[in-house]
Amino acid sequence: MAIAASARSRLNESRLGMPELNHASWGRFLIGSERETSPPPPYMSKANKLRTWRLVMKILVRIAGALFIIALGGFLFIVGGLYNVAATSPDLGLENVVLHSTMRYSVQARAGTASKQSWSDVEIGEGFKDYDAMCVVCHAVPSKERSAISKGMRPQPPTLAQASKQWSNGQLFWIIKNGVKMTGMPAFGVTHDDEQIWNIVGFVLRLSNMSTQQYEAMEKTLGAPADHHDYH
Ligand code: HEC
Repeated sequence: MAIAASARSRLNESRLGMPELNHASWGRFLIGSERETSPPPPYMSKANKLRTWRLVMKILVRIAGALFIIALGGFLFIVGGLYNVAATSPDLGLENVVLHSTMRYSVQARAGTASKQSWSDVEIGEGFKDYDAMCVVCHAVPSKERSAISKGMRPQPPTLAQASKQWSNGQLFWIIKNGVKMTGMPAFGVTHDDEQIWNIVGFVLRLSNMSTQQYEAMEKTLGAPADHHDYH
C-alpha cells in the first residue's frame, strides 16, 4: 500500500512538472509564431557540440595511442629476436592454425570455378612424371618414408593422399599453380603451363588410393625423367 501511494505521488509530481499543454501552446506549436525567437534545441547548442567534438577527439587519440603501442610492441618483438625462426623449434598450435586457416580461406576465395573432371592415361602419365620429379621430395611416395628435406621442413609438407578429399579439383589446380607463401610450397605456374598443371592434378587425385607398389610400377613403365633426382 505504502509503495503504491508513493508511486502515485511521484506520478503526480511528474505530471505537475510537465509543461502545461493548453490551447495557446498548441497554437504556437502549429503556427510556429515563436520559431525565430525560441532557443535552439539543447542538443544543437554550441556547448554541446563542443563537448561531443571533444569526446570524439578523445576517443580517436586513445585509438591512435593503442595502435602505436601495438605497432611498437610488434617492432620490438621482431628486432628483439624474440620469435624463434628455427625449423626445429616446437610448433606452437596457434601458428599452425593461423597459417593453415589463412591458406584455406585464401585458396577458397581465389580458386574460382575452373575445373577438369576426366584425364586420359597419357595425361595421368605426364602428371606422374612431374610429381615424381618435383613433388616427391616434399610430399613423398605413397606410404614411404619422407626425404631428409621433407623431414626438416616446418610446416611439414602433408602427404597428398587426403588432398582430393579436402580440396576440389580447381582448388588443387590453384595451389599447384600459385604455391603457398611462407610454407615452402612452390608456384609451379611460374615454370609450367595450365595443361601440365591439370595433368599433375589428375595424378594427385589418383594418390588417394595408391600403394607404394603401384607407384613403383608406374615408375618402371614410365621411366624416371632425365632431370630426375632420387629423393626417395
Ligand atoms: C619444397 C617442398 C615442396 C615441394 C617441392 C612441393 N610442395 Fe606442395 N606443399 C608444401 C608444403 C610445405 C605444403 C603445406 C602448405 C600449407 O600447409 O599451407 C604444401 C601443400 C601442398 C598442397 C595442399 C595439401 C593440403 O593437404 O592442404 C598440395 C595439393 C600440394 N602441396 C601439391 C604439390 C605438388 C603437386 C607438387 C609438385 C608439383 C608440390 N606440392 C611440391 C611443400 C612442397
